[in-house]
Amino acid sequence: MDVASEAALEAAALLRSYGGNSLTVEEKRPGDLVTAADRASEDLILKILRRHFPEDVILTEESGQQGSAQGLYAWMIDPLDGTTNFAHGYPFAAVSIGLLQSREPVLGVICDVFRGDLFRAGQGMGATRNHKPIQVSTTKELSHSLLVTGFAYDRRETPDNNYAEFCHFTHLTQGVRRGGSAALDLAYVATGQLDGYWERGLSPWDIAAGIVLVREAGGKVTAYDGSPVDVYSGRLLASNGWLHSAMQQELAQVRPLPVSFPVGGIPKQPGKD
Ligand code: IPD
Ligand code: CA
Ligand code: CA
Repeated sequence: MDVASEAALEAAALLRSYGGNSLTVEEKRPGDLVTAADRASEDLILKILRRHFPEDVILTEESGQQGSAQGLYAWMIDPLDGTTNFAHGYPFAAVSIGLLQSREPVLGVICDVFRGDLFRAGQGMGATRNHKPIQVSTTKELSHSLLVTGFAYDRRETPDNNYAEFCHFTHLTQGVRRGGSAALDLAYVATGQLDGYWERGLSPWDIAAGIVLVREAGGKVTAYDGSPVDVYSGRLLASNGWLHSAMQQELAQVRPLPVSFPVGGIPKQPGKD
């Protein structure tokens, strides 16, 4: 926990030092951005973790997997979760460091780059923000809830792009936010400021840390159908527990929207060729 916290805090400070500089932004695929800040943050985290845990597997967003897959422990690192926000100067982004033990998330540290908040949780140890205990909300009705979700980078290639689910829950709740950082979305479910979260097309580095936070703050995290979640499956439903079965039932009912957007391309704006 201490090593992960040191790495997350140092990486967040490094990311802040890029603020105001004009960043060169590369597109890995349409809409999926990477900057020098992502890479510098990742190098710094890797250096710290490698120094302390040379035996462990480390999976990072930009460098892939390092170390023997036989190891008991595997670190899941997102050096900058919220790259699109960061590249536009929108202050909602995080460093996310999660640890799996035999594929099960057991430790999570998330640092909010711009607010400086440090979220930490360990299995059986509770969850904290800036060393103070946090708890999920007690909202019991979807009609009283504020939810959050996101849209994966393949959203233009698949009709299963979460647009229908977004509309569905927007209709039933006080609102659905699209934060742009899965790690912070989960952290805010853990603090009770948001009541639930679902998303598809995720990577293990987006969610490993946040899963531990939500569970340790008293919430529930499963697959969409309520079965045990696999961090490699890409799909996740997280809630304060009270809303879980209602969210599960609603997710099961949603059908993709009639295709009003052409799959495969960015829709043209009216009047523009
Ligand atoms: C993205 C963010 C976003 C989520 C995307 C992720 P990145 O991570 O977490 O909220 O909707 O699916 O890929 O690319 O900013 O690290
Ligand atoms: Ca991410
Ligand atoms: Ca990232």
